[in-house]
Amino acid sequence: MANRFYVTTPIYYINDVPHLGSAYTTIAADVLARYHRLRGHETRFLTGVDEHGLKIQRVAAERGVAPHAFADEIAGRFRGTWPELSCSFDDFIRTTEARHKRAVQDLWRTIRDNHDKPQPNIYLGHYEGLYCVGCEGYYTEKELEQPGDVCPQHKKPVEMVKEESYFFRLSAYADDLLAFYESHPDFVQPAGRFNEVKSFVKAGLQDLSISRTTFQWGIPVPEDPRHVMYVWFDALTNYRSALLFPEDRERLWEGAVHLVGKDILRFHAVYWPAFLMAAGIAPPRHVFAHGFLTYNGQRMSKTLRNTVSPVALAQALSPKVGADVVRYSLMRAVAFGQDGDFSIHDVLQRYASELGDKLGNLLNRVLPFAKDRPPRGELGALERDLLAYYPAAVRVVTEAFDQTNPTAALNGIFGLLQRANEYIDRAAPWAAKKKGDRARLGVIVGTMLDLLEAVSVLIAPVMPAVAGEMRAQLGLPKLDWDALAEEPRALWPLEMPRRPEGLEVKGGEPIFPRFEKEREAEIVAQFTPRPAEDAGAAAAEPAPAAPVVTAPAKATISYEDFAKLDMRVGVVVSAERVKKKDKLLDLRVDTGDAAPRRLVAGIAKAYAPEAVVGKRVVVLCNLAPRDFGKGLVSEGMILAAEDANGLAALTVAEEKAAGSKVS
Ligand code: MSP
Repeated sequence: MANRFYVTTPIYYINDVPHLGSAYTTIAADVLARYHRLRGHETRFLTGVDEHGLKIQRVAAERGVAPHAFADEIAGRFRGTWPELSCSFDDFIRTTEARHKRAVQDLWRTIRDNHDKPQPNIYLGHYEGLYCVGCEGYYTEKELEQPGDVCPQHKKPVEMVKEESYFFRLSAYADDLLAFYESHPDFVQPAGRFNEVKSFVKAGLQDLSISRTTFQWGIPVPEDPRHVMYVWFDALTNYRSALLFPEDRERLWEGAVHLVGKDILRFHAVYWPAFLMAAGIAPPRHVFAHGFLTYNGQRMSKTLRNTVSPVALAQALSPKVGADVVRYSLMRAVAFGQDGDFSIHDVLQRYASELGDKLGNLLNRVLPFAKDRPPRGELGALERDLLAYYPAAVRVVTEAFDQTNPTAALNGIFGLLQRANEYIDRAAPWAAKKKGDRARLGVIVGTMLDLLEAVSVLIAPVMPAVAGEMRAQLGLPKLDWDALAEEPRALWPLEMPRRPEGLEVKGGEPIFPRFEKEREAEIVAQFTPRPAEDAGAAAAEPAPAAPVVTAPAKATISYEDFAKLDMRVGVVVSAERVKKKDKLLDLRVDTGDAAPRRLVAGIAKAYAPEAVVGKRVVVLCNLAPRDFGKGLVSEGMILAAEDANGLAALTVAEEKAAGSKVS
């Protein structure tokens, strides 16, 4: 990983205000930016708004305001909202800014005047075809839902467009793109999504209409102001404009990582690198496409987006660390890259049982013993064990963040917390205190204070306010984010910190106090939109039909409980028998994550290893890892049916991509 990191969010359309969906991407970008700052990398985090195009022109007209005035108002709301969720962007770009206009027109000219290919990159023609104003995207009839030529994303009929237009010769870049994908196997992540991109390019690319003449709300085409640029040509270029102006930070481009929702992957992984190639500029380092969130099991309709404000949720949860709780829940609840559900019940449950019981409680279990500063005695076996475990645990967390996987990073951190809680159970500082064994008490307290200091940094990318509060209670200096942004410095605790002797702890109130039952019910009510409020929403996804089983019936579970299962299609990449365990196969299965996952399955009696390779199985991905001993840890479970004749793994009849959601 290079020492430069430039993370971007999509620039959001201003026909919407910030909501849980856009907050999800922005929070993820902030988490990564903070992580890289703590690693001492030169880091830049860009977000902003996408103000041009037909969609915005129409919304402004509907409200009876000039697009400029409308844009000013909503851009201000975006800029003001992100800090309330502790999102620490370094730059906020608006596509109506002069610096952006200049960069876009420069890019157009560079592409136009570059004669690398036998035919010009940009040419004038006539476009006739179908257009979805919601996506600001072109469609072929085949891609639409019938009857009625309906956009598959917006569920609205597309429009026929017929006008003079400049075209970008995308067709000439198909081979260059495929060669680039080949030589950059982690350009698009997760891998499953990269396959979709490659298939799209392999199926053949058509030239792309990149200007419009039937409306004016856009950036004029250089030397032909009758045309305004296609809004995606304009918008994608923001990632460059912000690096070029007002100050030249082009050096950061080598570390560019675009976070996007899966809905806009094609624009970022096909059109954008093609534009850049045509201008002689290297494509970004990575495009990471995350999944889509549902809320309480429902698609996020416009009404829902307006009623469930992430900022209001943060305020309701805690005045001091509410934003952190929202950030934590979003990053932990939904495996980054996959679709998933975010629910108020889940947030409250994680608040109590993870943040309260595991993190907050750890602090409360140590601080009371630290007050009278027992001096450290000699390390015992328990401490040595914990210290030996620490570097490997931090490596797991570090690698997860490096691989854009905050969910796995949090799992790693909570594994460490679990271990630390177990250590306290065994080390029993209360017993040492009762015996008056100050040397023993000192070593327990010293070990734990060091570990808590490490944890205060490890959690800081996701929970900066909690980190601050923990450090205050531990008597440690603040993490100075401004100074880190000014001058990179590595603070990431790859090694266990060592607390100076004599530093006093400060203590304080519990960071995650328990909610009274009544308060909890109020929060649930506030963040559960009533059906009438959400009349515009598509119906909740139907619960799956009850399977016909001969197994004994079990107690009914709610749809919310079912929705917690992260089940996906997995493609078996390799399989091996396990020595001395005749029932087990050791598998590597592509479940759409950055790397294949290890699954240990009790199917060896039913399948020879070579018979399962290539099979499309169903995997329960968020089952707690199971240790079969000797380092054989299964990261999930393959579903299988069993009757008197033995086992059969569940498979998927049609070719669904690895990582596809099963529900
Ligand atoms: N303006 C374009 C992006 C141009 S980038 C050069 C656009 N804007 S948008 O306002 O529609 O934002 C789309 C992004 O918002 C998605 O890609 C995703 O990052 C985020 N999300 C919106 N709804 C979401 C969910 N329900 N779940 C997760 N993310 C969602 O497209």
